[in-house]
Formats: sequence, C-alpha cells, structure tokens
Amino acid sequence: MKGVVLAGGSGTRLQPLTNITNKHLLPIFDRPMISWAIEAIVNAGITEIMLVTGGTHAGEFLRLLGNGHASGIDRLSYAYQDRPGGIAEALGLAERFVGDDPTLVMLADNIVENSIRPMVDNFLKDPVGARIILSKVDDPVHLKHLGVPRLDESGKVTEIVEKPSDPPSSFCVTGIYMYDPSVFQIIKTLEPSGRGELEITDVNNYFVNQGTMAYDILDGFWGDAGESIDAYWSVNDFVRFNSANK
Ligand code: DAU
Repeated sequence: MKGVVLAGGSGTRLQPLTNITNKHLLPIFDRPMISWAIEAIVNAGITEIMLVTGGTHAGEFLRLLGNGHASGIDRLSYAYQDRPGGIAEALGLAERFVGDDPTLVMLADNIVENSIRPMVDNFLKDPVGARIILSKVDDPVHLKHLGVPRLDESGKVTEIVEKPSDPPSSFCVTGIYMYDPSVFQIIKTLEPSGRGELEITDVNNYFVNQGTMAYDILDGFWGDAGESIDAYWSVNDFVRFNSANK
C-alpha cells in the first residue's frame, strides 16, 4: 500500500500565521504539524509515501523530511500542486506514484490519538472500493465545518454531505481515506464545486453510490488542526498532554 499525505491548500483559516509559512509546518507541541500525519502513516506499516504540497514554502518540507529515512520512510516522493484546486485534485497528482496499489490518503492537518493500523488492515483484507474513518463529534456546530455521513438504520453510509447546514448524523468524515486505484479515474470525471475545488466528498460519494464504501469508527481523539485558530490550539493542548499515534 502507498501513502499520500496532502499538505497543499491556502491555510486562510490560520492567517496571519500562514502568511509566513505553510500551515502544516506550524508546530503541534514539539514538532511541525505534518510530522504527526507521517508518523501515523508509517506506524500503519506504509513506508512508500508521496507528499503533495504547494505555495511559496514548499521547499521547507525537503529541509524537514529530506529522503524520509529519519522518519521511517523508505521512499519519499514529492509533488507540487500549482494552486489550491482541492483535496481530490491534490490526490490526483499522485496517480503515477501510486500505480496499481491501494492508497492511504491523509490530510496533513489531521491528528489522531490512536493508531490507524487496524483500519488499514481492515481495508487490506479486501482492498476494493474505498474505506473512510469516522469520528464521533457531539457538537452540531462543529459538524457544520466538516464532511458528515448520512447513515441508514443498518448503519450503512447512504450519502456524505460536505459542510452541512443541518448535519445528518453525529459523525464526521476524518481526513483519512483508503482507495483502490480506480480512484484516479474517478477524480478525472469530477467538476469543480461552488468553491472552485475538486472535492474529496464527491469522490467518496461515488463509492457510496457504487455500494463499495466501508468505514471504521475511530477510538479516542481526532482533531483537524487547520480548521480554525481555536481548533489549532485545542489540538496543540491535546497532543501536549496526551501525545498522539499511540
Ligand atoms: O479534516 C477533515 C475534513 O477535511 C473532512 O471532514 C471534510 O470532509 C474534508 O473536505 C476536509 O475539509 P477541510 O475544510 O478541512 O478541507 P481543507 O480545504 O482545509 O483541506 C484540508 C487539507 O487538504 C489541507 O490541510 C491540505 C490539503 N489540501 C487542501 C486543498 C484545498 C491540499 O493538499 N490541496 C488543496 O488544494
């Protein structure tokens, strides 16, 4: 399985901090943010990783990670996204790197308390279609800023709604996704959303409609440190006192 870590985007919600660096290089406790996502991927047993980033600070990732060996990566590749065209567009840049393998995609601003290895193992038992990781979010206002699944009585995902005004469940879709290689053909069929981006939620809804979307529910803390300055600090506080990737 290959890993793709996405660290592009414009980081507007963390301005002015992101006027002077890439959001994923800001500190979370004692390390740059992206180091936690990379550790989560490596701890899941994946050691061939592509980092996708963009903007004026892309070179700093080379300085931080180099060839990746010190972070437990065997082969680290880099791709440059010309403009923040969306999560799905960024993933599309990894097509040749991923080839015919299954992929784990992780947004570099997501941080998890516990290992995602069991979920990766679940996908690898039958790596067809897609598998997402959900996290329970009790605050409906918070859910309005995330992707939220609609679940039927049997617990099956029937739809994912991005940034819903009326959240259809109390779970969010975390920024950790697993796909079979058909994902790259699906990305090519996407149209930009109202905000001009190729949306990962459209990719996920394709698999939902095909009946090939599975999910796991995460145990323990999950945070998106890029969501707002308050979220950034609450993730910092959590990691400082509890650590992550246990
Ligand atoms: O964190 C979980 C949420 O992430 C999900 O619940 C949502 O369904 C999903 O759409 C996403 O929402 P965000 O509003 O957090 O997405 P954002 O635009 O902030 O992008 C998240 C990361 O994706 C960002 O840290 C870097 C990467 N990215 C984003 C864009 C727009 C790229 O690499 N390139 C891009 O063009």
